[in-house]
Amino acid sequence: MQVLEQIRDLRIARQAYAPADVGFVPTMGYLHAGHLHLVEQARRDNAHVIVSIFVNPTQFAPHEDLATYPRNMERDLHLLAEAGVDLVFAPPVSAIYPDDYNTYVEVGGVTEMLEGAARPTFFRGVATVVCKLFNIVQPTRAYFGQKDYQQTIVVRQMTRDLNLPVEVVVCPTVRERDGLAMSSRNSYLSVTERRAAPVLYQALIAARRHYQQGARDAELLREVMRNMLATEPLAKPEYVSVADPQTLQELAQVGDQGAVLSLAVRIGPARLIDNMLLEPRPTETEHRLKGDPHDE
Ligand code: PAF
Repeated sequence: MQVLEQIRDLRIARQAYAPADVGFVPTMGYLHAGHLHLVEQARRDNAHVIVSIFVNPTQFAPHEDLATYPRNMERDLHLLAEAGVDLVFAPPVSAIYPDDYNTYVEVGGVTEMLEGAARPTFFRGVATVVCKLFNIVQPTRAYFGQKDYQQTIVVRQMTRDLNLPVEVVVCPTVRERDGLAMSSRNSYLSVTERRAAPVLYQALIAARRHYQQGARDAELLREVMRNMLATEPLAKPEYVSVADPQTLQELAQVGDQGAVLSLAVRIGPARLIDNMLLEPRPTETEHRLKGDPHDE
């Protein structure tokens, strides 16, 4: 496995893979099973796999955890070599943002709510670095986890709007046995906080159960999530949302488009997010094919 820090070297190495397909997994390091699942999928779909490790300063607000964001390059490289990655791109900040750097990518609409409302400069930083990494790596396909659902919508919108020749692939959230979505920030949790953290998943499951039993009133589903979060004293909810899965606009009723349930909750020093898709209502024909309309 090659490990490169400079854009010039990366471009030369990438040229050598042409014309074969290249899968790309952008990360901020401190890898977990969720990242490795993206790598596995990238390996299945492509002849070569490139992973970037870059803690992107522009997606952190000044009061956020850039300085303390967990890092372990040695362990990450070991995991990626074992996973069969061809090349790791781990640039210094100065390679991506030289002193005179002055261009940012702003995606409108889908960045305004949820994470965008809570962290106003976050998606500008994400879109900018992902656009730059796509231009540098020139992948055939790029892999993102559904855990960061809004990020996947923003990246898809940017890729479409800027005509970037990259296929964006979204892979399912990987969870711990108790349902907690894997995240590098889970490492901030103490033992007691870690025990409290699956309440996010429980809130999503409770709302999905109501949906499966026929509930379509979005405010009722939000209330179900709030009530479940309220059972855990350590959980401090920031938002719960039942939104259109494409536009991320809050819904009054869950209609044929289905919905995305999402939430952000503080537990101790960690700000955790999670989401779940409510699949669109099956058509009559699908009902008949599946038998019981409430089958999963
Ligand atoms: O999801 C992440 O880890 C980051 O937001 C990403 C996509 C690597 C951009 O820095």
